[in-house]
Amino acid sequence: MADESVRARRSGGIVINDDWPGYSLDLFNYPAHYSGDLDCVIVPHGVIMDRTERIARNIMDDLGDHDIVVLCVLKGGYQFCADLVDRIKVLSRNSNRSLPMRVHFIRLKSYLNDQSTEDLHILGAEDLSFLTEKVAIVGTGKTMQTLLKHVEAFRPKMIKVAGLLVKRVPQNSACLPDYVGFEIPNHFVVGYALDYNEYFRDLNHICVISESGKMKYKI
Ligand code: HPA
Ligand code: MG
Repeated sequence: MADESVRARRSGGIVINDDWPGYSLDLFNYPAHYSGDLDCVIVPHGVIMDRTERIARNIMDDLGDHDIVVLCVLKGGYQFCADLVDRIKVLSRNSNRSLPMRVHFIRLKSYLNDQSTEDLHILGAEDLSFLTEKVAIVGTGKTMQTLLKHVEAFRPKMIKVAGLLVKRVPQNSACLPDYVGFEIPNHFVVGYALDYNEYFRDLNHICVISESGKMKYKI
């Protein structure tokens, strides 16, 4: 679709089209306790890791001369943040621009079951004054706009947002991360630290949850 390719160019991530059926779960290893709870693998773990490595290189190319403060958005961003920081560390160690990198954590919560709730909670973000004059990298998803406003108030020299996933939903087009891993269809996905009511964080691949999976873990 023409509309899709316009967005693809804008997000900069690997585009997974709406008609992509995903990989059969039978082709991969995944925890047996989630058998029947998933429809397909939409991004295998190895592909996530390869894409993350490239994002780390892009970040280093753009920000390598700055002192970086990483702001990891919990809980769903922890795995991507950990792997991204790890890759940046390796690149930094192997370059002649080695600079200290600090990592901070904040927590957002806005989802119940698979629905976004109105009240977005930002926890652990009361004082972000350590960001003043620093470069911040924030990894998050849908809640980016609210969080950015909060972070901007502390006047960092530069803010760059890295997001592993961008969903093709209308409200996402206005505010895209600077670094995007994958642009995906509007499915509720789990795995690689993304949860459904706290389940599925222990799944390595990014998968589409099945209707029976939603029922099983509904609260
Ligand atoms: N999965 C898990 N958490 C989320 C998602 C999703 O697809 N979208 C927003 N938060
Ligand atoms: Mg969640």
